[in-house]
Amino acid sequence: MPKRAQHLLLLGLAWLLPQAALAEAGSPTSPVDPERLETLLYQDCGSCHGMTLRGGLGPALPQDRMQALSPEALTHIIRHGIPGTAMPGWQALLSEEEARWMAEHLQTDNRLKTLDD
Ligand code: HEC
Repeated sequence: MPKRAQHLLLLGLAWLLPQAALAEAGSPTSPVDPERLETLLYQDCGSCHGMTLRGGLGPALPQDRMQALSPEALTHIIRHGIPGTAMPGWQALLSEEEARWMAEHLQTDNRLKTLDD
């Protein structure tokens, strides 16, 4: 193979590999879709935390309690789960940005404000 072709091939590979890594990490370029994320939160997370987030197999997730965690910690829990418990990681379904949106929703726009009412 001529040297120039080898060069181009290497350049191509150098470009492709990070693309593959990005695709695996979710799609950071796709915009956050609040409607999809809210449905996921109250239905899929709700299957364990209760559709109103009042708890079930998993603990209740009211806004006041979610505020005790940093947005970073909450995002991390959502993406990676809690090892050794039934809380699964969601990184296959949620990009960093989407998990972050969900964390902020839980802390500021949560349908369940408190358990104290
Ligand atoms: C298969 C059941 C299940 C599903 C689905 C699930 N969780 Fe959990 N989650 C749990 C359990 C069980 C715990 C408690 C783990 C422990 O013992 O610390 C937990 C803990 C948590 C915590 C920590 C609560 C706290 O007070 O420390 C957060 C936040 C959380 N889940 C958010 C979510 C979100 C957001 C989703 C959806 C993206 C989700 N969970 C989906 C079972 C689930």
